[in-house]
Amino acid sequence: MAEKISVLVPAHDVEDRIRGMAAEISERYAGEELHIIGILKGSVFFMCELAKYITVPVTLDFMSVSSYGSGTASSGTIKLKKDLDDPIEGKNVIIAEDILDSGRTLKYLIELIKERNPKSLMTVTLLDKPERREYEVDLDMTGFEIPDKFVVGYGLDYDQKYRNLNYIGVLEFTED
Ligand code: IMP
Ligand code: MG
Repeated sequence: MAEKISVLVPAHDVEDRIRGMAAEISERYAGEELHIIGILKGSVFFMCELAKYITVPVTLDFMSVSSYGSGTASSGTIKLKKDLDDPIEGKNVIIAEDILDSGRTLKYLIELIKERNPKSLMTVTLLDKPERREYEVDLDMTGFEIPDKFVVGYGLDYDQKYRNLNYIGVLEFTED
């Protein structure tokens, strides 16, 4: 089976939208400082682009999680693979994630972060697949709502590939 990728959101549109999100965030946190937590590895491209255009002081940290399950998403449980380097108590925290799908990952992360008493918490994803939601999640901002298709690029992978595409593409498998 060959892998075929068709453009869903071109590079220009991704960048424009992220800059718009950065402007909105900068306005919301005027006079404050921000601590952005990126979820490895999918959020890295999005997080960097967002942080570059935020005009209030920003610090960064990373977390990594993995899902274990029997194949179907809903049976999976989440495991923390890499915790934060720094405490977040009293900080204005933004969780930056590549995509909100079933909601399992973000729900887990939100609960974990809230236990550590940040001053505020905002959740931001580049993409949202609302049709796929299984868990209720408070999402504060997203770049694009997309249909229920498997997408790659701008951090998102298939089997660790395609993260470095500068656009969002739909991955399909063809016979040849
Ligand atoms: P959730 O826990 O079901 O919301 O899934 C979130 C994670 O699943 C994301 O962080 C991605 O790593 C992965 N994921 C979900 N949909 C896609 C997709 O269309 N392409 C690539 N990865 C995806
Ligand atoms: Mg992934």
